[in-house]
Amino acid sequence: MTVLTGSGLSAESGVPTFRDAQTGLWANFQPEELATPTAFRRNPRLVWEWYEWRRKLVAAAKPNPAHLALVELEQGVPRFTLVTQNVDGLHQRAGSREVIELHGNINRTKCFEEDRVVTDWPDTDEVPPRCPHCGGMLRPDVVWFEEALPETALTLALERSADCEVFLSIGTSTVVYPAAGLPFHARSRGATVVEINPSSTPLTKEADYVINGAAGLVLPELLRRWRGGKCSAR
Ligand code: OAD
Repeated sequence: MTVLTGSGLSAESGVPTFRDAQTGLWANFQPEELATPTAFRRNPRLVWEWYEWRRKLVAAAKPNPAHLALVELEQGVPRFTLVTQNVDGLHQRAGSREVIELHGNINRTKCFEEDRVVTDWPDTDEVPPRCPHCGGMLRPDVVWFEEALPETALTLALERSADCEVFLSIGTSTVVYPAAGLPFHARSRGATVVEINPSSTPLTKEADYVINGAAGLVLPELLRRWRGGKCSAR
C-alpha cells in the first residue's frame, strides 16, 4: 500500500491548507505568491515571516486521528509507503517511521545561496538571518514553486506508486505536479486507487473508490473495519 497525503490531513490539527482562505495577518496573501524564489528575492522579510508564522502554528499543533491511523497502518501493512507533500513533520511526530517528504520540512533551514542545510546561526535582528558560512540569506528547507523536488524522494515515490496494490490519496487537491501525478501513475500500473477528501479533485473521476469526508473521521473508521477483518489492506 502506498499513501499520498496533502495539507488536508493536517487541517484537523489546525494547520491551514494551501488553497483554503488564509486567516489573520496573512488573509491578503496567496500562498502561491509567497512560496517562490522570486517572492523571496523581492521581499525576503515577508516570506521569512510568513514561514515563521507557519512554523509556530505547526509547533503548537498536535497530530490528529488521521496521522495516528497512518502510524498503525505502517505497523500492520506489509510493503507500506507513506509519501507526503506536507512540510509540517506531523507524520513523524505522530510516530510514522518512514516518511518520504516530497516538499521538504519547514523545521529545517537552508542557505538560499549555497543550498546547504544550516542548523545554527548567530543571534541577530536581521530578517531573514544570514548563513554563518557564506553570508547569504537563510530560507526554509521547503520546495517552492519554480523549484525541483528532491530527486531521491521523487524517484522512490514513483517506484512505490508503480508497484503497490492499493494507493490512498488523502487530503490533497491533486493539482500540484509532480506529486499530483502519483495516484494516476499508480492507477496506470494497476493499483486500486482510493481518494479520501471532503471535496472533489481532478482525481475524483479517475479513482476506483472515493470517500467523501474528513480524514480524521474516515481513516480511524477504515482502520476499525480493517482490524475487524471487514476490509483488506495490502
Ligand atoms: P491544498 O490546499 O491544495 O488542498 C487541500 C485539500 O485537502 C483539499 O482538496 C481539501 O478539500 C482537502 N481537505 C480539507 N480538509 C480536509 C480533511 N479534514 N480531510 C481530508 N481532506 C481535507 O493542499 P495540497 O494538496 O497539500 O506545495 O497542496 C499541494 C501543494 O501545493 C503543497 O504541498 C504546497 C502547495 O502549494 C508547495 O509549497 C510546493
